[in-house]
Amino acid sequence: MGLGLHLIIVELTHACNLRCKHCYLSNFSSTSIAKDDFINIIVQSKDLGAWAYAFTGGEPLLLGERLFEYANLVVKLNPKAKIYLETNGTLLHLYPPKAFEVFNNVQVSLEEPKDINDFIRGKAFSKVLNNVFRLKAYGIEVIINITVNKININTLREFIEALLKEGLKVGIQFLTPTRPELKRLALSRREFARALKVAIKLGVKIDDPRRILFDKHLCEQALAKIRKKKGIVGGCTAGIATLAIDPSLNVYPCSRLRIKIGNLRKQTLDKIWLENDLLWLLRKRELKGKCGKCIFKYACGGCRGDAYAIYGDVLAEDPFCPYVLVEKGIC
Ligand SMILES: C[S@@+](CC[C@H](N)C(=O)[O-])C[C@H]1O[C@@H](n2cnc3c(N)ncnc32)[C@H](O)[C@@H]1O
Ligand code: SF4
Ligand code: SF4
Repeated sequence: MGLGLHLIIVELTHACNLRCKHCYLSNFSSTSIAKDDFINIIVQSKDLGAWAYAFTGGEPLLLGERLFEYANLVVKLNPKAKIYLETNGTLLHLYPPKAFEVFNNVQVSLEEPKDINDFIRGKAFSKVLNNVFRLKAYGIEVIINITVNKININTLREFIEALLKEGLKVGIQFLTPTRPELKRLALSRREFARALKVAIKLGVKIDDPRRILFDKHLCEQALAKIRKKKGIVGGCTAGIATLAIDPSLNVYPCSRLRIKIGNLRKQTLDKIWLENDLLWLLRKRELKGKCGKCIFKYACGGCRGDAYAIYGDVLAEDPFCPYVLVEKGIC
């Protein structure tokens, strides 16, 4: 992995029509990114080489028609860029499926079978699933995104299998306890290993750096790269290939590593990208504890958001990584 900005996570608004139990947001303010500011983000990030934008929130569809206007602005200003939409899926029916063609994919969050989903997300499961099938039938690439946590870990396998049976694509990610109240929802190392193994076996999309532990092919590739090249070859992208921007134009290394590193009203994006000390700390990857000594340090590096959430230190060892269990032959 080269040092270079690839992905901008654009939190278009923090307003949301749901209040999910696991959400990393706690303030659902209705502020949204203004058109001029949005144009600035695209122009400045393109100059830095960005080629992917994840539109997220809050709930991005609460922007109404502006969401599609903004996506079309990306097409105009950074034509080769990919655009992904992350949505809770409750409002997809308000727009013709054709409108979603501007996105490379639409990632719809669901948290497992109806009862569990509705416990975490509110009563939305059936409506969301109908909306998903409507887009899929039109030919839009839809991915169901599951955020694995203590509440839904036990039904993960059956839920993924059911979705795959319906011909749906599935992705998983893991809860980061960005707020103290979320710590009780975080997985144990054993649960983490179980979820990773299930997801890898079922062939679902996992962007998490720690998948390397159970993905034999990825593991072999990474070790070969490490032998050839000094320094980072993959893993956690926070501040290395990714930045997140919130509706007040605060900039973060990632939406799950919520440390403000600047604000686009006060600094340009390239100044933040090139001069921010925290970003350089992440890029050196001089990690502590188990991650510091791990053979996968430069290919994984753990989730820096999880390390910060649990230890208040972006360089601390990953708190959820199951490698210690693998080493002891427990899993
Ligand atoms: C914050 S939401 C915004 C987009 C939209 N409202 C949705 O729910 O998909 C983006 C994704 O982050 C996930 N997410 C929320 N809180 C999280 C947390 N504490 N740790 C990891 N992922 C989280 C959500 O489940 C969702 O898949
Ligand atoms: S729908 Fe998305 S933004 Fe809204 S509360 Fe749930 S996870 Fe958070
Ligand atoms: S110990 Fe750290 S670097 Fe090694 S696999 Fe686990 S999270 Fe990745």
